[in-house]
Amino acid sequence: MCGIIGYAGVEPAAPVLLNALERLEYRGYDSAGLAIVGAQGIERLRAQGRLRNLRGKAESGAPEGVVGIGHTRWATHGAPTEQNAHPHVGAKGLYTIVHNGIIENYAALRDDLRAQGIACATDTDTEVIAQLLDLYDAGSPLETLRKVLPLLAGSYALAILYRGEPDSVYAARLRSPLLACLCPSGALLASDAAALLPHSREIYRMADGELARLRRAEIQFFDASLNAVEKQPVAIDRHVTAADKEGWAHFMRKEMAEQPETVRLTLEPLLKRGGVDLGEADLKNPGEIDRVLFLGCGSAWHVGVAGRLVIEELTGIPASAELASEFRSAPITVNRNTLVIVISQSGETADTLMALRRANEAGARTLGIINVVGSSIAQESGSVLYTKAGLEVAVATTKAYSTQLAAVYAVAARLAQLRGSVSEGALQEFLHALAALPDQMEETLQSSESPALAWAQAVHKQEHAYYLGRQLDYAAALEGSLKLKEISYIHAEAYAAGELKHGTISLIEPGTPVICACCREDVLAKALSNMEEVRARGADVFAVTSDPQLRAAHVLRIPKTHPLLGVSLAVLPLQLFAYHCARLRGCDIDKPRSLAKSVTVE
Ligand code: AGP
Repeated sequence: MCGIIGYAGVEPAAPVLLNALERLEYRGYDSAGLAIVGAQGIERLRAQGRLRNLRGKAESGAPEGVVGIGHTRWATHGAPTEQNAHPHVGAKGLYTIVHNGIIENYAALRDDLRAQGIACATDTDTEVIAQLLDLYDAGSPLETLRKVLPLLAGSYALAILYRGEPDSVYAARLRSPLLACLCPSGALLASDAAALLPHSREIYRMADGELARLRRAEIQFFDASLNAVEKQPVAIDRHVTAADKEGWAHFMRKEMAEQPETVRLTLEPLLKRGGVDLGEADLKNPGEIDRVLFLGCGSAWHVGVAGRLVIEELTGIPASAELASEFRSAPITVNRNTLVIVISQSGETADTLMALRRANEAGARTLGIINVVGSSIAQESGSVLYTKAGLEVAVATTKAYSTQLAAVYAVAARLAQLRGSVSEGALQEFLHALAALPDQMEETLQSSESPALAWAQAVHKQEHAYYLGRQLDYAAALEGSLKLKEISYIHAEAYAAGELKHGTISLIEPGTPVICACCREDVLAKALSNMEEVRARGADVFAVTSDPQLRAAHVLRIPKTHPLLGVSLAVLPLQLFAYHCARLRGCDIDKPRSLAKSVTVE
C-alpha cells in the first residue's frame, strides 16, 4: 500500500532513499517524503503528488546526512497533501517515523492524546504513533516501542529515527511487510525486495512482532520482549529482475509480452514424465478432500473463478471461489477436508492474508499460489506453489495472473491424477494442451495486437462498456473488464452472459460496446443468443472467439485449445484492448490513479 525505506550507512542518504523510493512508487504515489539526520537534528522534506516532485525539491536542497528514512504514500487516512505526507514527527521532535499499514484505533488514541493536551497536526493515523512515542519516550527507542506498540490495533511496518541516536534506524513490523539487508555502504530497510535489489540479493524478512535496529555495519533483531533474535538472510528469487522497461513503452506492455515465457517457467518444474509433480506442495491424502475453495482479491479472485470450474470438471470435487475480504467475516464452513487455495501475486494482500489465517484457524488445508518468495501469505500457507512471473511492476497484473492460472491448472491435473477422476487419455490430452499453452499464448499476442488496437480506436472515447461470457468465458470477461477499468478509467462491468437480460440489459443503448468472450463450444449457442439480445438493442458487439464460423460486428479470433484452458488465451486480447484504450486516453498505464500494487490494508 505504501513504500517505506530506511538507510544507515556512509553514503549521502538522500540519493539512496530517493532511488529506493523510485522502486517502491508502484505501491502508492499520492505523496512522498524523507527525513535525514543532519548536523542540526532530523530534517524532513515532503511533497504532494508523484516522487518526481520530491526529487525536484531535493535537487534544490536535500538534507545532508548518512542516516534517513523515506516514504511513498497511498492515502488511507487524510487527503494526499504535503501536510499528511510521511514522515511524521511527535510534538517534542524526538521520534520521526514512516509507516505502512493502518492503525484501526487511531481515533480513540487521538482522543486520548488530546485529553493529555497533545493535538495532532495532521489527519493521518500514522502521526498518532509518533506522538505516542514522544509521549512515552523511555530514553531508549526499544523500550519506548515496547510500551507503545501494544497500544496499537491494526497493522504497521515502521521505520523510525530517534533524535537521541543519530546513527540508527529502528524498525517494527506487524502484518505489513518489512525487509532488511546489509551492503558495503550500510544497512537498508524496505517494504519490498525491489528496493533492496541494487544493494543486495540476501535479505532478512522481519516476522510479525519483531523489532530491529540498523546501523552502518549491522542489523540487530529483537522479539517483542526485546530478546535478541538470530535471523538468516534469504536469497532473493533468481527471477526477480531489476525494474527496467527494456525498451517497452510501459511495464505493463513488457509484462504482457513476458507471459508466454513466465507461464513456461512456472509449468516447467510441474509437468514431469506425462504427469504433474507439485514437489513440496504435493497434495497429501487427496482422497479426503471433499471441497476446494479459492480465496483471493481482484485478478487473483478471477483466477479462482476459473480455477473452480477446472477443478470441478477434472475432479468432480465441489469447488468455489470467494472474495477474501468477504470470506474474512463470513461464517466458517471450511474444515480439515477442505483444500483452500489462496492466490496472491504479492503475498502481502491484507484481505487475503486475514482470510488465510481464518482458514488455517478452522483447520483447513491451505495451499498458497504466490509470486513473491517468502512473503507473508507464503509463510503462513500450509504449502506453497510459487509462480515464476518474476518482478511485476505494473499495478495492473498480467503475467502474474497468467502464471497463477497455469499453476491452478497443474494443481487441478494433479488432483485428478491422484484421485483417478479422469481417464488417463483425458488427463494426457489436458496435459499435452497445457504444455502447448505458452506457444499458443505467444501466437495469440502476436495476432491480437492490431485487432485489439482497432477495437480500442473504436471504443476508447466511450464511458461505459460491458463484458459477457458464460462459464470459463465469464472468468475471462471478469478479468478483461477489470483491466479496462483500472487503467483506462472507462466504467466496465462483466456479466455472466445469461444474466444480463435479468435487468442490466436496460443499460444497453445504440452504440454501447459489449465485449463477448466466446471460447467455450459447449455454451456457444447460448452465448450467441445473448450477443443477439444486445445487438438487437443497438450494442456494438466485439467477440473474442476460437470458433472459425462466429460472426459479429467485430471478431478477434484466437487459437483453439483445450476447453478448460481457453481463459489463458481469451484474456490476452482483452489485456491488449485495455492497454490501447488507456494509451489512447493518455492514462498513466503503469501507475493508475488511486491504485497500489499491493493492497496491504483491509
Ligand atoms: C489487478 O490488476 C490488481 N492489481 C488487483 O486486483 C490485484 O489483483 C489484487 O489486489 C490482488 O493482489 P495480489 O495478487 O498481490 O494479492
